[in-house]
Amino acid sequence: MTVQDKDIKEVLCSEQFLKTKIQELGAAITKDYAGKNLLLVSILKGSIMVMADLMRAVDLPLQIDFMNVSSYGAGTETKGAVKILKDLDVDIKGLDVLIVEDILDSGVTLHSLINLLRQRGPASIEICTLFSKPSRRQVDVEAKYVGIEIPDAFIVGYGLDYAEKYRNLPYVGVLKEEVYGG
Ligand code: IMP
Ligand code: MG
Repeated sequence: MTVQDKDIKEVLCSEQFLKTKIQELGAAITKDYAGKNLLLVSILKGSIMVMADLMRAVDLPLQIDFMNVSSYGAGTETKGAVKILKDLDVDIKGLDVLIVEDILDSGVTLHSLINLLRQRGPASIEICTLFSKPSRRQVDVEAKYVGIEIPDAFIVGYGLDYAEKYRNLPYVGVLKEEVYGG
């Protein structure tokens, strides 16, 4: 058992299971985006693992780019606004943009991000998320590709963090309550 494994209550997705899910997503994207100008946009930092594996599972010519945003969150005056911490390098006009995310939770971040990127004139814009917590949704967001729907639990690993840690776990697990300071 490694140092970080001790903080995990339960493994939700093994490395093998994640691999299978990413392959399925990659196959669907390969089919749907044949002949298009695909740009995969990874939202930092949580989606780096998904991005690295997913881009290899898509058998098409494509471009990649990265963006880092912070949501002001729901229930504040700026609800629906998203602050750009790192913008794209690529001009997305005329491109078929596919946003790659780790997890769709309240939906606030992606809802605002989609609205912002739409104004830049992409040919299309869609979302691929590895995880989704449908019961947590506060705003309407449609993800074209969803890997795994999960109940309302806080998960870490495979890019997902708690207080910036556990991103390097190769599997996805649920944290023990005592780690939250309980
Ligand atoms: P939302 O959909 O705007 O609420 O925010 C989604 C973001 O919240 C994700 O990109 C993650 O950074 C973070 N997040 C939501 N749920 C979890 C979780 O269970 N573990 C780790 N990060 C999470
Ligand atoms: Mg994130």
